[in-house]
Amino acid sequence: MKGRLLKLCVMVSGRGSNLDAIVRSIDEGKLNACVNVVISDRHDALALKRVEEWNAAGGKRIESFVIERSSFPGKDSFDDAIASILEEREVDLIVLAGFMRVLGAKFAARFAGKIINIHPSLLPSFPGLHAQRQALAYGTKISGCTVHFVDKTLDGGSIISQVAVPVLDGDTEDTLSERILKEEHRLLPETIQKLAANQIRFG
Ligand code: GRF
Repeated sequence: MKGRLLKLCVMVSGRGSNLDAIVRSIDEGKLNACVNVVISDRHDALALKRVEEWNAAGGKRIESFVIERSSFPGKDSFDDAIASILEEREVDLIVLAGFMRVLGAKFAARFAGKIINIHPSLLPSFPGLHAQRQALAYGTKISGCTVHFVDKTLDGGSIISQVAVPVLDGDTEDTLSERILKEEHRLLPETIQKLAANQIRFG
């Protein structure tokens, strides 16, 4: 495995299966990175439970923070609280893995080229919420997942990597989401490793 060890911050809002895929890839020696910090905007995110369990199991300790939007008077102060955690820890890459809030233009500019997001569609098709539902409603026969740099637009930053996934007859939102998720779990760690190995340039 080539490349420098990347210090990661992973930002989450829920289940954390992509966070799990990153941690597994690191443990299996496929990804030259360490998850230094996890930030959740929800105190009840399952992802935080996973962090607790990993820490209790005695692996490399992952710091975690809950930064809830409702604790701040405005969006800017919420973004600033996250930014100061990131700056203090000098992380190399911020990975949005199921983080369900849009970060502001100022935040995006501050960390330009250092934030990536995973989205469950072939962007630029179906940005925003419920991408799999949108794909089914449109009747597209191919969907997939995309890793892209984050800029001030919604899911509109430059695309780094994609995998296509077929939409099958009879698919429901759940079956399609599950098929796409399997590919997300491969694509996201592989893309981070390519950044670590300089096979992809930081944006
Ligand atoms: C994934 O489908 C991701 O593409 C989207 O939100 C979901 C997060 O899943 N942005 P998980 O929390 O990583 O399990």
